[in-house]
Amino acid sequence: MTDLFIAPHAQPLKGTENLAYATWKFMRNPLEGFGPLSYRQGITSVKHLGTQMHIVTAPEGMNDILVKHTAKFTKSPIDARILGPATKEGLLSVHGKQWKMQRRAVAPIFRARHMADLSPLVHTVVDGFKSRLGAGRDVELNGAMADLTFDILAKALLGDPKGLDRDRLKKATRRVVTSAGTLRPDDLIPWPRGTPRPIGPRGYAALRRLKSAADHLINSRQSDAGDDLVGLLIGAQDPKTGQRLSRREQRDNLIGFFIAGHETTALTLTWALYLMAMDKGAQTRVRAEARAVGIDKISFETLDQLPFTRAVIDETMRLFPPAPIINRECHEACEVLGRAINPGDILLLCPYIMHRRDALWENALAFDPDRFIRNPDLRSKAAPFMPFGAGPRVCVGASFALMESVMGLASLMAEYDITVADDCFPRPLMTVTLRPEGGIKARLNRV
Ligand code: HEM
Repeated sequence: MTDLFIAPHAQPLKGTENLAYATWKFMRNPLEGFGPLSYRQGITSVKHLGTQMHIVTAPEGMNDILVKHTAKFTKSPIDARILGPATKEGLLSVHGKQWKMQRRAVAPIFRARHMADLSPLVHTVVDGFKSRLGAGRDVELNGAMADLTFDILAKALLGDPKGLDRDRLKKATRRVVTSAGTLRPDDLIPWPRGTPRPIGPRGYAALRRLKSAADHLINSRQSDAGDDLVGLLIGAQDPKTGQRLSRREQRDNLIGFFIAGHETTALTLTWALYLMAMDKGAQTRVRAEARAVGIDKISFETLDQLPFTRAVIDETMRLFPPAPIINRECHEACEVLGRAINPGDILLLCPYIMHRRDALWENALAFDPDRFIRNPDLRSKAAPFMPFGAGPRVCVGASFALMESVMGLASLMAEYDITVADDCFPRPLMTVTLRPEGGIKARLNRV
């Protein structure tokens, strides 16, 4: 267990700070606003501006909320404020009967059969990215991976429609993600549900562009839906009732896929590549594994021949879960880890902290992908590993995200060596997702 790379860490508070300082830290980086107790115990309760909050960092507690008592919780008002403007009627935001209907209709889109159909285009887009890299280039990983995963998602979702200005759509999506995904002081105020969250003139303009592009696409496909993900979304039907999604629901889901699907996967690849640069031994093993499969044969069907690459992706999402905090609001009293939870209480479920607790992980801060090979049970439902959430609202796009991340990493490492400066140690910074502060400058050289 020597020589393992110790990953950058967002240092928690010491527990002795005053409230003003702790709030300031939380605003700058929520992950640095938690005290040491959250790392030591499964549930920690604090009162903030009159609202009772519970920070949950144990798998049993997460399962209590997300699986056992799921009907007693909804997403929290802050989630509704952040997601509402872009995707109010989409799966990410809706609840109750509307959510059940949409989930039953949308989940089949991400079945293995469709993933297998989509994997050649993942290949093509990654190949295009590599040809732009040529023999070697300096890249800022976060931006480069956001471009790559946007292009994959756009191709998977939209095919290659004539007249679509993909760059304009990319810019609008990035702008919406940035406007919605940056926490601000007013986010700490417990606004009543439904209070709008202003995103500034540029944010609104980008949102209008995104909505109108999505409307246009969906309207133009009603007679001949096609077989890409948008086609499947338009044809999506609740198998129980036969109900189809309204056009508004189709549009909000399309936008929701773009928002939920591209930044999260981009960050997985960004941090994975960073870890590859910091652990040359692991990098060599991913390269050897990918080459043994054959660069052109890396596909959905050969994913199981890339167990180490998959372990690298899992270990990356353990250390840097792209969605580091999942929020809920309680609507019916219940108990979580023996603690009474009352209507109106806010639950902050923190995979980031759970994934780094000493009591739950051996050598918690070390990058050790082999832990997932030594113990495959770490991917079981009871394990303290939940990058995609858990229960009925678990990430609907997880299969797509995993395929894209494993294929992308294997394909890049098969042909490129990656290095970063020795002192590159980016702070994990939570906006809504978990980004490397200041980005990561890397050098990719063909090998
Ligand atoms: C590594 C990449 C990804 C990560 C880490 C991730 C993480 C998550 C998490 C933690 C949730 C649960 C949130 C909650 O319970 O409040 C979620 C839900 C969701 N994700 Fe993902 N996601 C990823 C990729 C994707 C992709 C590629 C798509 C679609 C193309 C997607 C679409 C969604 C949707 C629609 C939901 C809401 C599901 C529901 O409420 O029923 N995600 N994701």
